[in-house]
Amino acid sequence: MASQHEQMVHMNRGQGKTSYARNSSLQNVEQNRMRLMIEETIADLCSTSSLFPRNMVVADLGCSSGPNALALVSVAVDAIHSQCLHFQQPQVEVCVLLNDLPDNDFNMVVTSLVAFQQSKKSVVTGIVPGSFYGRLFTSGSLHLVCSSNSLHWLSKAPEELKRNQIPAYDIDENVRVERRHVVIGAYARQFRKDFTHFLEMRAKELSSGGRMVVSLAGRRSEELASKFTHAWESVALVLSEMASKGVISKEKFDSFYIPIYGPSDEELREIIKLEGSFSIREMQVHEPSSGSDNMLITPSKIANLLRAGFEPIIVQHFGSSGEMMDEFVRTAERRWSKEGSLQQEMARNPRVTLAVSLKKVV
Ligand SMILES: C[S@@+](CC[C@H](N)C(=O)[O-])C[C@H]1O[C@@H](n2cnc3c(N)ncnc32)[C@H](O)[C@@H]1O
Repeated sequence: MASQHEQMVHMNRGQGKTSYARNSSLQNVEQNRMRLMIEETIADLCSTSSLFPRNMVVADLGCSSGPNALALVSVAVDAIHSQCLHFQQPQVEVCVLLNDLPDNDFNMVVTSLVAFQQSKKSVVTGIVPGSFYGRLFTSGSLHLVCSSNSLHWLSKAPEELKRNQIPAYDIDENVRVERRHVVIGAYARQFRKDFTHFLEMRAKELSSGGRMVVSLAGRRSEELASKFTHAWESVALVLSEMASKGVISKEKFDSFYIPIYGPSDEELREIIKLEGSFSIREMQVHEPSSGSDNMLITPSKIANLLRAGFEPIIVQHFGSSGEMMDEFVRTAERRWSKEGSLQQEMARNPRVTLAVSLKKVV
């Protein structure tokens, strides 16, 4: 069962100006980079068994709502259909299942699913609400699990920090630097627990030889631990500026913990190896701002992207309204208004996306 913390995690609903649906193009860039991994996985799944599959079950975990919700499963379904054509086999029946936490905008997802089902041959669809840290599907029922930009969300923020009243992000820089290893250590342990659990659950639900292609926010192993920053550093920076100016309460800011952790590629490898149910077929480390994505990295786009992803959890904690979030966006835009300042801030807090292709070993 999902914990109380999980229940409140969701992106901004609907299709309005501040919605995730309208502010998730950067996440979609990452989904597009997973295309080849998914296509290769489907080709493997169709060619390795002696019999061409008659039906397949594909799930996306942490689908959210808007155009990205169907992006990965759409690639998978198209790849399955191309394999049928290539091997001159009858259409495989595909069951597409979308998952997210119960507070997700599933009404919008259903509308997209109906259109999707009508546009594809031999596809049935379904929604599976619940936490991906628990059981979601019946044993051995899945062939492919996809997930993009979601697995850095923890099941909860580390209890030990809350219990000891250690802020996740101290406004005083000296204290922050001194305590960094304690804070990061607590977040890293929570991630290890959660990701191990995630692997154990999926190992039960995937069929023999079943596959996973997932991406999540992370950092490069080469980055010095002493320079380590939160995957949600930008949100903390903007909120700490608002707290320093008295726009939000400093006490409230000190007790605000976003349940997100971005592991290093090495950390991820180690957890997967130790858990033991999956072999790593491929791991890629993607820079967030290469090539054409630069067009998407403007102060206004990043401020609105942060709002779309974090407004629900911020509003819930600070008990505030949309006005505070308007101020959040203005503070972020002001902060990055000087030419190149956003890029400098990103360079000081280097983030990458880790994309990994896994095969169940038993
Ligand atoms: C940034 S969105 C990613 C959405 C989409 N996959 C994409 O790439 O744009 C992260 C999603 O993960 C969901 N999520 C977070 N923790 C989850 C959990 N424990 N179980 C299921 N979904 C979760 C959130 O509700 C949110 O919709």
